[in-house]
Amino acid sequence: MTMLKKTIVLLPGDGVGPEVIRAATAILRECATEFGHQFDLQEFPLGGAAIDATGEPLPAATREACRKADAVLLGAVGGPKWDARPVGQRPESGLLGIRKELGLYVNVRPVRLREPLRGISPLKRERLGDLDLEIVRELAGGMYFGVRGNEQSGGVERAFDTESYSTPEIERIAVFAYNRAEGRSRRLCSVDKANVLTSSQLWRRTVSGMSHLYPSVQLEHMYVDNAAMQLVLRPTQFDVILTSNMFGDILSDESAALLGSIGLLPSGSFGAGAPLFEPIHGSAPQIAGKDQANPIGTILSVTMMLRDTFGLGIEADWVERSLDRILAAGYRTGDIAEPGSRVVGTIAFTEHLRQEMQLTLGHAERYGWGV
Ligand code: IPM
Ligand code: MG
Repeated sequence: MTMLKKTIVLLPGDGVGPEVIRAATAILRECATEFGHQFDLQEFPLGGAAIDATGEPLPAATREACRKADAVLLGAVGGPKWDARPVGQRPESGLLGIRKELGLYVNVRPVRLREPLRGISPLKRERLGDLDLEIVRELAGGMYFGVRGNEQSGGVERAFDTESYSTPEIERIAVFAYNRAEGRSRRLCSVDKANVLTSSQLWRRTVSGMSHLYPSVQLEHMYVDNAAMQLVLRPTQFDVILTSNMFGDILSDESAALLGSIGLLPSGSFGAGAPLFEPIHGSAPQIAGKDQANPIGTILSVTMMLRDTFGLGIEADWVERSLDRILAAGYRTGDIAEPGSRVVGTIAFTEHLRQEMQLTLGHAERYGWGV
């Protein structure tokens, strides 16, 4: 067994961020202890918490630590306290700043049904099927980072944000998505708005032009409005969805809803620097500090980190199988409760998971999970 030494930077952020990060780090520590890894966990402020502490959403010390880390784990940013601040000085710019700083242009959001949670999906059984798709969202360009501004003319104020993509920006995210599709069921659906937007026409042309390099991948294009509809009507037609920063943001919340709660979805961001893992949900200020947050999206972000970045598949499987067992036993946070569930808080849920992991430890260590 290989024992690893890794530095992981924790950015709890705002709202429920600190609660889900606390839960996920308990699980991470459990893996380290039982498998002999050394995870050096270093916490830094980001977002609103950082604005309060230092005056800026992405302090230099946070930036520096992330740059040196082997991986970054982030909770959530934002909240009503900072809502009046202009774009650029909000907690969210800390998050966008760190994505930019680390050169993270890929954001993978796996949307996979966990069997014990089949009953909480708003979709009928036959439509939900065995939902298992992946959204590959471009993360470093598009409207999030385009030219923006406000102008006054003739007593009228106008504000604008621009969507723009260059060929190399589209190519590098498409390479990732094609490869991802090759490793799955080889279906790639590129989502755009090429019937209206010039940037989407370049997107579509570029993605199409690369398809001969991936002959085993079946490429399809879909307009975003249709994709939003198809996700609800027939989500199992999708395997890998490749899309822009803005469309990916929207379609990933919709996809999470198909599973029954936004609290369930993890994500991993990759690029030039340290990979960053974060749940896709926000800071949920209305339940912050109440021990009600669902830690699963963050815990699954940890298993993505373990499996994809550190190559620790056994540890990741150990966590996920234990998670499925406690879900099957009926332990749930409020957002994923069903009639008859044992509704527990974030802390108790995590403790049940830890205990379940302890119960099955021998199996994971001795046999892996192949048997
Ligand atoms: C997400 C979030 C962020 C985004 C916000 C908080 C800036 O919604 O990760 O999906 O829009 O990327
Ligand atoms: Mg979002």
